Formats: sequence, structure tokens, C-alpha cells
Amino acid sequence: MTKYFDTLFINANLATMNPNIDAPYGAIENGALGVKDGKIAWIGKETNFPQDKDIGVGEVFDCEGGWITPGLVDCHTHLVFSGNRAKEFEMRLQGASYEDIARNGGGIISTVKATRAATPRLLHLESTVRLGDMFDAGVTTVEIKSGYGLDLETEVKMLRVAKQLGKKYDMRIQTTFLGAHAIPPEYKDRADDYIDLVCNEMIPKIAELGLADAVDGFCENIAFSPAQIRRVFEAAKKYGLPVKLHAEQLSNQGGAKLAAEFCALSADHLEYIDEDGIKAMAAAGTVAVLLPGAYYYLKETQKPPVELFKKHGVPMALATDCNPGSSPIVSPHLILNMACTLFDFTPEEALAGMTRIGATALGLGSKIGTLELGKSADMAIWSIEHPSELSYWVGMNYAPTKVFKDVIQNNEVIPYDY
Ligand code: NIG
Ligand code: FE
Repeated sequence: MTKYFDTLFINANLATMNPNIDAPYGAIENGALGVKDGKIAWIGKETNFPQDKDIGVGEVFDCEGGWITPGLVDCHTHLVFSGNRAKEFEMRLQGASYEDIARNGGGIISTVKATRAATPRLLHLESTVRLGDMFDAGVTTVEIKSGYGLDLETEVKMLRVAKQLGKKYDMRIQTTFLGAHAIPPEYKDRADDYIDLVCNEMIPKIAELGLADAVDGFCENIAFSPAQIRRVFEAAKKYGLPVKLHAEQLSNQGGAKLAAEFCALSADHLEYIDEDGIKAMAAAGTVAVLLPGAYYYLKETQKPPVELFKKHGVPMALATDCNPGSSPIVSPHLILNMACTLFDFTPEEALAGMTRIGATALGLGSKIGTLELGKSADMAIWSIEHPSELSYWVGMNYAPTKVFKDVIQNNEVIPYDY
């Protein structure tokens, strides 16, 4: 008997998130899903599953009428860092702004100091707690940025820790080099010299070590100008690395347009983007990554122009932006909920933002993000009556019954000395 399927999931409702299936959530109710060699090899109504006795099946998993979704994708995080910024949270509640704190040497720079001082082991331990919570909540793919080192040694340390964490949880980790996150103290008033370092030393070395899947920057008046970010993007391009950008988070700098010019995978935040920026993103196929956690935590009042993104056909992903300053959040379910309550997403749009569109924002759209024939069997099985429940709970990380993944191959062990 030929073994056609390693695992067959039965008695399941499938939220495929495949836009070509004309049903909310691309749903196939009373479905079955067969996996072979880590890939989806059969998907459809259970009644249509071939009855042929020659079809061998390894394990049969009864989903007991629950729902299978693609594994959740968190496409924008700064999950690897040391320490916390609870004191700055108190300062902000007493009236100091995020920008004031940054200009006075706090903000990102205070996390840089803690992260530089942390041993790889400490950084690993602190970050494990956060990634473990995400794993427990059904996240299978996480993007992790550097950017709290701002020197080559610490940036490399962060990226190595990120890769190692993926190995620990068998999660798909996409690493992003974010050297242009803030001006380090030793380069105060010499931002251009720091950009020289990023372009001429850091990007070449990180590319050589194979430690980054993409390059990001922070284009803002408290960070880097469009002209400086352009140089970073040009260096990334030279080394064949795709780009993405923190753009129009606190003001409109034209960062989204610049990102589109470089066919960026995504432009992220975007509360202050204008229609021209949106049109440029639409033309370039750049995904808008919206971060309701940072909007909420910074008590921002300007919402990203969700209707304009829709009008121009710019796909919207969602992410936690997990970081110690603007979004100390690890729960994907809280983000799904916030997107609905704060940004007027439907629960279906929200789930698409943390599956299919999140995958596109990472350049992984052909591999993961939907339940489709030939894609990775990267999915979560939930004991829920309807997928809208994933956006419904507040403050509870809804745990899947089971997470099933293909063999993740991009997490080679990156050794370092403890
Ligand atoms: O995505 N905007 C810049 N970077 C992060 C915040 C980093 C921090 O405050 O530590 C963000 O909001
Ligand atoms: Fe961010």
C-alpha cells in the first residue's frame, strides 16, 4: 500500500484564508487536509476525500469539529532586547512624549545600553519568554529585527540570538537588520558618519554572515532622514537584501514613497502617510504593516488611513511590533482585537493580516499564510466554533489545540560562546 499522506486531519473546518475561495475566511466546512513531506497534499470537503483502500495514511488527527487556520505570522517585532522601559511608561503617563524621552537620551538608546551590556545567554533567556508566549498563541513565523546594538558586535549578537530562538521553538524566524534605528551615543550629532558605518561595514559583514533576510530603517525626525535611509537601501540592494521601513509613524517624512521606490517588502506604522505615498506603495506592491499596539500604547490619535489603503488596493498586514518602548505586547490575539476595535478591521481582515498578508510582507507568500495545495503544512488547530473568536477575546492568549509545522529549514544553528 502506498503511503500517500503522513498525516490526515479530519473532522475539521478549514479557514484557508485563500482569497480564491469564495467564502468568508476562504472557509471549507467539514473539511479534511492531508500532509505529505511537510506540504499540504490534499484539501477539501471530507466527503470528497478518496475512499480508495490503497491510499495509505500515517497518522489520522481528529480535529473534533474545530478550525484549522494557517499558523499565525507576526511580521514586525523587535523581540530580542534586554531590560524594560517601565520607568519611561510612567514618564509618558505624566506628560512626557515618546519624542521628548528619545531626545533626552532615553527611548531606544536606553534599550541599546541594556542590550549591549547583556551576555548572549541573558539576551536569549529574556527573549525566550516572549517568543514562548507567541508560540503558545499559535504563531509559527516571527520576524525579529536587530537595532538595539547600533554597533556591529551587538547587532550580530542580537541576530544570532534571534536565529537560535527559532531553533529552540522550531519556529520560522525571519531576521531583519535594523542598524538605522537610532543614532548611537558615540555618534551624537554625526548621523551621516554612523550611516557610513551601517553601509560600509555593518551591511557587508551581516550579509557575509548570512544573518539577515532583510534590511529596515527608521525614517523619522528623531531618527534618520529620507536621504540617509536612501543610502542604507542602496547598500542593501548592493548585497541583494530586500528592504522595509518604519515610515510615517510620528510625522510624514515621505518614507513610504522612498520604500516604494526600492520595491520594499513593506512600509510599517503609516499613521501619517498621505495619498501619494499610498499610490506609490500600490504601484510597487509594497505591503502596509499596521501596528495597532504601538498606536494604542503611545496614545496616538491619528489612525492609519485604512479606507485609502483599501481604495488603492494596498494589502494590510498586522503585527505586534513587540518592543520595550512603543509596544510591549506579545499577544497576536490582542493585536487582532485592536485592529478591529481601533482600526475598523473585520475579524476576517484581521486574520488575513496575521496570516496571508503577513506572509507577503516577509516575502514568504508562496510558502505559507494560506491553506493551499503545495504550501507548507504550517498551521494551527483551534477548539473554536468560528474564526472570529480569534479576534474576540481581550487579554487572553487563545491557545491552539495543536500547532503543526513542516520541517523548518532556515534555522541553522548559529553558535556563540556563552
Ligand atoms: O516600531 N519606531 C521605531 N521603533 C520601534 C520602537 C522601538 C523602541 O521604542 O524601542 C517601533 O515603534
Ligand atoms: Fe517597529
